[in-house]
Amino acid sequence: MKLISQRDANGEKNGLRGTLGKNDKAASMGDKSISHRALMFAGMARGTSRITGLLESEDTQRTQKTMAAMGVMVKKDGDDYLVESPGFLALRQPKEPLDMGNSGTSARLLMGMLSGTGHHVSMFGDESLSKRPMKRVIGPLSNMGVEFTGSDNALPNFLPLSFRGRPPLIPLDYTLPVASAQIKSAILLAGLSAMGDTTVWEHNISRDHTERMLALFGVPLRETIKDNLRGVTIGGGTAVLEKITGKNINVPRDISSVAFLLVAASILPDSDLTIENVGLNPTRDGIIETLLEMGAAITIDYDGFAAGGEPTGTIRVKSAALQGITTPPDRAPRMIDEYPILSIAAACATGVSLFQGLEELRVKESNRLAAIATGLSGAGVAVKTGDDWLEITGQKNIRGGNVIATNLDHRIAMSFYILGLVCQEAITIDDDRSIATSFPNFLSLMSRLLNEQ
Ligand code: S3P
Repeated sequence: MKLISQRDANGEKNGLRGTLGKNDKAASMGDKSISHRALMFAGMARGTSRITGLLESEDTQRTQKTMAAMGVMVKKDGDDYLVESPGFLALRQPKEPLDMGNSGTSARLLMGMLSGTGHHVSMFGDESLSKRPMKRVIGPLSNMGVEFTGSDNALPNFLPLSFRGRPPLIPLDYTLPVASAQIKSAILLAGLSAMGDTTVWEHNISRDHTERMLALFGVPLRETIKDNLRGVTIGGGTAVLEKITGKNINVPRDISSVAFLLVAASILPDSDLTIENVGLNPTRDGIIETLLEMGAAITIDYDGFAAGGEPTGTIRVKSAALQGITTPPDRAPRMIDEYPILSIAAACATGVSLFQGLEELRVKESNRLAAIATGLSGAGVAVKTGDDWLEITGQKNIRGGNVIATNLDHRIAMSFYILGLVCQEAITIDDDRSIATSFPNFLSLMSRLLNEQ
């Protein structure tokens, strides 16, 4: 459906106000990355796991349905989910090709995990996912002995494809060519079914939810620092797999979803919003560092760790006059999903912002570098882009009035919805359906917070 976003008619009290308490169901915003992993790892673990705060969205449904297709029972118990699994070694051959929808995390992590089952698995995705590169995962998994076939029988780079591993897989020592938690996680999960140690090296640490949650499930991991590289080593084999048993997992609110509220509250007048139970993993908190550098009125109160080893806390944000900022390339992995909404903050800030190290933005749910540049310049904001950078000149009165082509990209849809709230003319989002992949209650929550005066 088309979505029109425009500013408050009398332009006065239109900030975001209220408190999103830990148990506020209407404001549930479970972390997408952690939710996928919770479903997968609980699906590998013999016995029952309880997941609290699981994100109920189209993307996480893809992972949930895959687990169900392999003989794992996933059911609701009040607000929690119970996952009952016969254990990794007893997972069934899926009868049908698996539909990964829009979810890159499901597709890439499951390729790694399911390679170790020895089953023949076929996967397909929507139009956006079918354009995203898979060789980055297929390459290293092939080196571990997994056989992949695409439509033309060459080593495929895109969905749809099929694969089969023949466990035990071959252990691998691999240095990531790009900072990517999806590649790292796929290899580590396949490594669980390899006979011996598998190590993944990274130049710049990508989100470490897999490592934290595997540790919760009792899988021994070793971390090594060598020549400016960080290595994670996992030992594999049936003895390791048999020891993985059900656990309780707590999923905090997703900093990547919260980021939309932080920027909206900052750029709209009269905001005062408190959000509890937000995931504050240091491999994900680049957006907070950057917004603070831009002058955002954000305060954080750290709680400690949720079950699952993830740090959490309460964030309070008020309206603020933002300043332009330059962000270094090495910060990009810590806020890779936040550049669309950060670009909206930059468009509303005083002065010029330069974001560097953005090459991965081209291969997300859409080419985000292009989508941000087209959307902002269509709204009358001065933007320049290069191969891996984006420069935005902020301005006071943004015209707006354009139509945003979302190309099935949830974060582009939500970012430009927020820009529309401060523009002189309404912004039209061509299709709002993608929002349900990560943040199904985004629009209802925005309208509640905008009206909570
Ligand atoms: C994710 C990792 C990131 C991120 C994606 C979720 C994950 O992708 O963009 O939204 O859950 O591991 P890459 O690892 O490809 O950078």
